[in-house]
Amino acid sequence: MKLENSVVLVTGATGGLGQEFVRQALERGAAKVYAGARRDHDWSDPRVVPLQLDVADPAAIETAAAAAGDLTVLINNAGISGARSLLTGDMTEIRATYETNVFGPLALVRAFAPTLAANGGGAVVDIHSVLSWIATPGAYSSSKAAFWGLTNTLRLELAAQGTQVLGAHFGYVDTPMTAHLPEGTDKSAPEDIAGRVLDALEADEKEVFADALTESVHAGLTGLTTGVFA
Ligand SMILES: NC(=O)c1ccc[n+]([C@@H]2O[C@H](COP(=O)([O-])OP(=O)(O)OC[C@H]3O[C@@H](n4cnc5c(N)ncnc54)[C@H](OP(=O)(O)O)[C@@H]3O)[C@@H](O)[C@H]2O)c1
Repeated sequence: MKLENSVVLVTGATGGLGQEFVRQALERGAAKVYAGARRDHDWSDPRVVPLQLDVADPAAIETAAAAAGDLTVLINNAGISGARSLLTGDMTEIRATYETNVFGPLALVRAFAPTLAANGGGAVVDIHSVLSWIATPGAYSSSKAAFWGLTNTLRLELAAQGTQVLGAHFGYVDTPMTAHLPEGTDKSAPEDIAGRVLDALEADEKEVFADALTESVHAGLTGLTTGVFA
């Protein structure tokens, strides 16, 4: 799916990666980018249309779908790291993690699927993590695993209407989400990761492992061990 003349919605557009997806989609020729966000942001570009969008709010999703009938690319980028323990963490916070990281993206795909079909098929880009495959304490890794499974099933269900579904996995990126990590933690630059993801979208791929660590971890999962685990 080429971005030239596309109409893109980025959720979590005010975040570290979200802002890069907005900027690079425009750089690659998108005609319009809906910047889905819970808070205001000065985009300073007439091609960016701000859209009030809490992905955990079904009514807001319906309103967004009604407002963006010209959409051709949905980037499910919004996400939270969520509760720190499944065992002792607050259940409300655990549910909120799943609402944002799993049910929100599903509701968005359901709401926009008819629009994408009407506009020629289009594409969905789902932002996962290397932690979709590696368990860590807390709600995040299992929510990303669930989201990954959901992406794979939706790819099958959306094939009939010609919608490309791209799942993107990567490790730490230098954004507000990882600001709390110790100094010296290895992080990719958001512009590099967003660029790899959009390259994969434009190359009609189904999955992208956007950094070397993620490539190695995935190779290990499939028995094709290379790199750091060889
Ligand atoms: N950073 C990493 O190391 C890393 C690694 C792998 C995958 N990822 C994934 O990459 C994506 C982007 O993360 P990031 O690193 O750019 O983090 P970030 O800078 O914290 O941005 C996250 C964005 O998501 C938004 N958001 C959170 N909950 C939302 C909701 N209910 N509705 C709408 N927007 C919501 C936030 O908006 P507010 O400002 O309103 O909170 C923020 O704009 C996430 O899915 C994350 O899981 C990140």
